[in-house]
Amino acid sequence: MSVNWSQYSLEQLRAHATQTFREGGGSRPDVLLIEIDGQKAVLKDQSAADKMFALLVGPVLNWRECKALKKLSNVSCVPNLLGKPTSRSFLMTYHQSEQITKLEHYHPEWPEFFEKLRAAIDEIHRAGVAHNDLRNPTNTLVTANGEPILVDLVACFCRGQAWNLPNRWMFNKFSQVDLSAITKIKGKVAKELITDTDIVAEDIAGRPGMALKGLGQLIRRVSRRLFTK
Ligand SMILES: Nc1ncnc2c1ncn2[C@@H]1O[C@H](COP(=O)(O)OP(=O)(O)OP(=O)(O)O)[C@@H](O)[C@H]1O
Ligand SMILES: [Mg+2]
Repeated sequence: MSVNWSQYSLEQLRAHATQTFREGGGSRPDVLLIEIDGQKAVLKDQSAADKMFALLVGPVLNWRECKALKKLSNVSCVPNLLGKPTSRSFLMTYHQSEQITKLEHYHPEWPEFFEKLRAAIDEIHRAGVAHNDLRNPTNTLVTANGEPILVDLVACFCRGQAWNLPNRWMFNKFSQVDLSAITKIKGKVAKELITDTDIVAEDIAGRPGMALKGLGQLIRRVSRRLFTK
């Protein structure tokens, strides 16, 4: 019988953790593997971040990621939302996999894998969600069958109504940035597959955009220093 995940409190779920994918602290949540009756799920718990961050920002991040997972519930390359035990945590389906730049046991056929990755990214865009953090390779996972799984939708950008032109412009830009992640990842694992048709970040934003990106990275670094003990 399948586990009714929504009946468990956060404390009960945490008591069934069998593996830590990422330890919380600073501005980071705990990401834990939970096992109950032989079944597995993944808990992302923002309350494990530093107190002030968890208190103020935790619910917003949790809400953003849950909203994206709900929108993408029919998309197979993204985990499904299983429950929201608190306003700062959620539970999702577990996908046995490895991070794309840390493969140990899985060795996908790269040309086929990158076709699937392109299809996966196109699919989330069709569903109205730009991921926005795919250039971080820890967010692309590879299963034993060589399927891509996209996780960590906290930074996502959702497509608005057709009349909302600024939103549509941004969505289009962010979608291009998602696609440029394919080029970046190819550069790390299969350089020879990069062709002229691959999208590079510099072409999307132009010089002002790259300057903005640099500023964004600086802000992220500074806030990480401030929030991380
Ligand atoms: N549904 C899932 N199934 C299997 N593994 C998962 C799942 N969700 C997350 N993971 C693992 O946990 C790691 C961290 O998850 P996630 O990226 O959501 O958290 P994060 O706090 O943003 O971490 P990071 O800052 O390292 O990106 C992933 O890289 C992956 O290895
Ligand atoms: Mg991540």
